[in-house]
Amino acid sequence: MISFGKNKFNYTDTVKFDIKSIEQGHHKLAYKNVPMIKCPFDYVIYQMLVFQIKPDLIIEIGTNKGGSSMYLADLLELSGNGELHTIDIVDLRDEAAKSHPRIKFFGSGFQNYDINLISSFSTVLIIEDGSHTYEDVKATLNKFSKFVTKESYFIVEDGILDKLGWKKEYNGGPNKAIKEFIQENDSYIIDRYWCDLFGINATFNTNGFLKKIK
Ligand SMILES: C[S@@+](CC[C@H](N)C(=O)[O-])C[C@H]1O[C@@H](n2cnc3c(N)ncnc32)[C@H](O)[C@@H]1O
Repeated sequence: MISFGKNKFNYTDTVKFDIKSIEQGHHKLAYKNVPMIKCPFDYVIYQMLVFQIKPDLIIEIGTNKGGSSMYLADLLELSGNGELHTIDIVDLRDEAAKSHPRIKFFGSGFQNYDINLISSFSTVLIIEDGSHTYEDVKATLNKFSKFVTKESYFIVEDGILDKLGWKKEYNGGPNKAIKEFIQENDSYIIDRYWCDLFGINATFNTNGFLKKIK
């Protein structure tokens, strides 16, 4: 007879996870062996969004090792169209992320990204995954939101940091910037479909799927 001694077979009846455990786990995630720091729910949402929107330009603010750049660029490759502009203030990229034909890297911060580069594209999606401070998120919304095309998105990442108890360090962080932005702009709505796909704000991008409606 098989005995389910927990040390021998690793069996347990316990099911236990929460935002903190997902946060700890998401730092261990990788795409093609390159760290990609995303909530697992958001991996799936990005995949669906790229195929729904079919952007010909994704601007990613916050490159880090480049795992998310490679993931997004591979999705563009699979959808048959588009390039990714990824922006950071330091070059921490893994070698594999440097040679992707659909990725262009800009290393002097979103503040110095030349917006004239956007004009030749017709369907633009923006992903803000930079410092997460209120000031930077607000500044990126101010700089880039007008370039998002109708029916596409400006995605603000990591509003979840409020629930992790880090709001103060980020001076209010993404959620404060989102609240102000939504009040000031009637061309965007918070798309609850993506925010609430797995439960209310069951994403690290809480209230962060901002859809351009006009
Ligand atoms: C959370 S990491 C990005 C993670 C990456 N997108 C991923 O999913 O794997 C945040 C990155 O934002 C960068 N960053 C900080 N300030 C920035 C700025 N002003 N412009 C662009 N990137 C910035 C940091 O250097 C850091 O590499």
